[in-house]
Amino acid sequence: MKPIQVGLLGIGTVGSGTFNVLQRNQEEIKRRAGRGIEITMVADLDVARAQSVVGPDVKVVNDARAVIANPDIDIVIELIGGYGIAKALVLEAIAAGKHVVTANKALLAVHGTEIFAAASAKGVMVAFEAAVAGGIPIIKALREGLTANSIQWIAGIINGTTNFILSEMRDKGLDFDVVLKEAQRLGYAEADPTFDIEGVDAAHKATLMSAIAFGIPVQFDKAYVEGITKLGAADIKYAEQLGYRIKLLGITKRTAKGIELRVHPSLVPSKRLIANVEGAMNAVVVQGDAVGTTLYYGKGAGSEPTASAVIADLVDITRLHTADPLHRVPHLAFQPDAMSDLAVLPMSEVVTSYYLRLRVADEAGVLAQVTGLLANAGISIDAVLQREADEVGGEGATSTDLIILTHDTREGTMNDVLAQMQALPSVLAPITRIRKEELN
Ligand code: HSE
Repeated sequence: MKPIQVGLLGIGTVGSGTFNVLQRNQEEIKRRAGRGIEITMVADLDVARAQSVVGPDVKVVNDARAVIANPDIDIVIELIGGYGIAKALVLEAIAAGKHVVTANKALLAVHGTEIFAAASAKGVMVAFEAAVAGGIPIIKALREGLTANSIQWIAGIINGTTNFILSEMRDKGLDFDVVLKEAQRLGYAEADPTFDIEGVDAAHKATLMSAIAFGIPVQFDKAYVEGITKLGAADIKYAEQLGYRIKLLGITKRTAKGIELRVHPSLVPSKRLIANVEGAMNAVVVQGDAVGTTLYYGKGAGSEPTASAVIADLVDITRLHTADPLHRVPHLAFQPDAMSDLAVLPMSEVVTSYYLRLRVADEAGVLAQVTGLLANAGISIDAVLQREADEVGGEGATSTDLIILTHDTREGTMNDVLAQMQALPSVLAPITRIRKEELN
């Protein structure tokens, strides 16, 4: 049988990796897929550079629409990124009857409903394993491997840049700004790292996992998103003293009231495996009612790790493209007419526990005032740590750091208490609040 023909839109880091791995492993991939898979056409603005990557036998153009219009192309891989031209091209490829493979988490998290509906109407597949956690086959695991389960929660380190920064902050005791500059110098962080450090990239990925886990539409606009830019070395150190590490987690959870969908720094007990995921690595924990806790670990970015996921999608499509569309794996794991209308909860309704750090006047009665406010609100304290005044502020200091770990409470209740604490004359600086996840 003649090879299935693939057109590639954008041949940067992931595109080159995809081309190279497909070539290197072509025989083995063919034995798995049942027929060869060949990239026969590439569109890239830099035609000369693209041609040098793929060699003279592959047609390279600077117009992505020429790839979509080519009747010989069965599958289009979109590796342009972003919501702009990528969205138009994906919809045009679908309209032209092409199957689509994309690594574009931003596009699917924001416009997934429209894109999956268009694909279903046209009877084509949109595959996106590479969009979440790079080379880790987490989409496959959630959508197929765990299909027996009622999934209860997912918590993941799904942004390598921020995990690298947090690991460096902890290892070297440095503040965020210093490590970010170093990460940029080493090429770990983008020149514009906003989406990574503000949690947006992780929220795109969490949104996709949430939809697949719970059978709800993709709803990035409902996700709570908080990045790591305000974290200080002191909080990482205090967390460590209390037996925790701070990680940027993407969390989605099924509760009696609705779905939690949130990205924020979290204290995680140091003894959990996920707390020990360091550097740019990714890891996702999934809790299912039948399977219990499962953990997926690997490289969440990079040329060949991400290519590994892109090619897995190419193989899936090659195996399934002649199947009746109704017999394929649904885009979001659940049949489109059987989606749930469970609401994504506002952050004020989320229930979790907290780490609080207060810079307070080192005088009698302050601890009682602070803990009194927690008691009045029904918030139970798990641990308290007070640093000696001269350890924090030097010899003769008159202020100190008070660190409190709480048990679970509603975020809205905690917000009210924090406002009251902040207004106390003995609280001398803005209070730091970091959520805490036991993940048990
Ligand atoms: N920028 C992402 C990260 C990789 O740092 O993990 C692509 O999503």
